[in-house]
Amino acid sequence: MATGSLTVVGTGIRCVSQITFEARTAIEQADKVLTIALDPLMARWLTQLNPTTESLHALYRLGMDRQLIYDAITERVLEAVRQGGRVCFALYGHPGVLVYSSHEALRRARLEGFEARMLPGISAEDCLFADIGFDLAGGGCQSFEANDFLIYRRVFDPRSALILWQFTLVGEALYTREMHSARGLRVLVDYLRRYYPADHSVCVYEAAQYPLAEPTLEYVPLSQLPKARLSAVSTLFVPPHGVAEADPEMLRVLGLS
Ligand SMILES: C[S@@+](CC[C@H](N)C(=O)[O-])C[C@H]1O[C@@H](n2cnc3c(N)ncnc32)[C@H](O)[C@@H]1O
Repeated sequence: MATGSLTVVGTGIRCVSQITFEARTAIEQADKVLTIALDPLMARWLTQLNPTTESLHALYRLGMDRQLIYDAITERVLEAVRQGGRVCFALYGHPGVLVYSSHEALRRARLEGFEARMLPGISAEDCLFADIGFDLAGGGCQSFEANDFLIYRRVFDPRSALILWQFTLVGEALYTREMHSARGLRVLVDYLRRYYPADHSVCVYEAAQYPLAEPTLEYVPLSQLPKARLSAVSTLFVPPHGVAEADPEMLRVLGLS
């Protein structure tokens, strides 16, 4: 086994207060901490926990292809691991939820013979379940990255809840200052209209990012979604439409009829 190691941790969505005990310990004990904490407060707090903290935020360049940014981040993490010592890569939310660089850095570190692990964190979806008060026991929940959902025409059931991540970035491959792509949103609404009525109430959700702040839940009719207040961290929650019917044959097989 090579000498360096990599631990990827999540810091939660709500600044400082949602980090797990094990993630905090990994940060404190690391020989080098790398972060892409987009929030300056979070970056400052990480630096207080561990003075070796280096922010990779400068790798985000306006107008650059997002994939190239993610590749550069992965490279920087691996470079640090190869130098030896315990490297901790700290990301907001859950570090394994929609984060290309964390999975890729782990995969490549292991290939190169380094010890590498991921610790879970509190994701935006975890906050959503709490703030919206939704329990997937009532019909389940489908969760997709919005571009992936559209491009691959993912098969889904409108009678179960639907969560679309990054829906404000539909059709946007570059890192921009724009809060959302108007064209992409229109395409998304037109597509969803095939499955839901125009007045179906959907929720534009934003989890609170600071301890005393409140989450934002804006319910709008689906057709009015482009007029809602959107940000780069908005997530779309589409409540179920229609009622599923129990399959009598399955009930019989299960002995539940
Ligand atoms: C690159 S992903 C990162 C997700 C993150 N790793 C997590 O565990 O939540 C960015 C997307 O996460 C969602 N997101 C991030 N912060 C959020 C927040 N404060 N409230 C709601 N959704 C959020 C949005 O859908 C956003 O487009």
